[in-house]
Amino acid sequence: MLSAILIGFMGAGKTTVGKTWAAAEGLPFYDTDDLIQSHTQQTPGEIFAEQGEQTFRAIEHQTLKEMLAVSEGVLATGGGIVENEANLTLLQTTEIPVIYLNAKFGTVAERLMDDQTRPLLQTQSFTDLAQTYQRRKPKYEQSADREIVVDTLSPEAVVALLHA
Ligand code: S3P
Repeated sequence: MLSAILIGFMGAGKTTVGKTWAAAEGLPFYDTDDLIQSHTQQTPGEIFAEQGEQTFRAIEHQTLKEMLAVSEGVLATGGGIVENEANLTLLQTTEIPVIYLNAKFGTVAERLMDDQTRPLLQTQSFTDLAQTYQRRKPKYEQSADREIVVDTLSPEAVVALLHA
């Protein structure tokens, strides 16, 4: 069984924390975006642009479902994993601990400001993004077994808290 599934908004540090944790435990690290990219040979940005968000969400759902059966590791998910109702059910019912990395909108906005690789940032204004953040927040909360407020914490400090 996976040791944890990390959820949270873009820029909350899911990938960095997941990699740090997996390395400390000697476990494999998985990231839904990377898995999607290796399966499809396209980046999330390319899938969004060429096939649309719905297609990306369908592939993402399939990827999450498959990862629930993996024997060990730490899984980081894309920030939009909670956009699909079926994923909420999967996250709420799995025995794998689901951890919500909660970063304030100001924190993620600052981190994302110069990021050109995330497709949502190409199509949404700052106001749209803030609305997306507010809309998703309760979904992360409902899906998680545990929430960590990460704004002022290093990845190592988050991992230490997860061990506590
Ligand atoms: C998305 C977040 C991205 C990626 C895709 C869509 C989102 O993952 O899955 O660009 O809708 O928030 P990260 O949270 O790892 O950036």
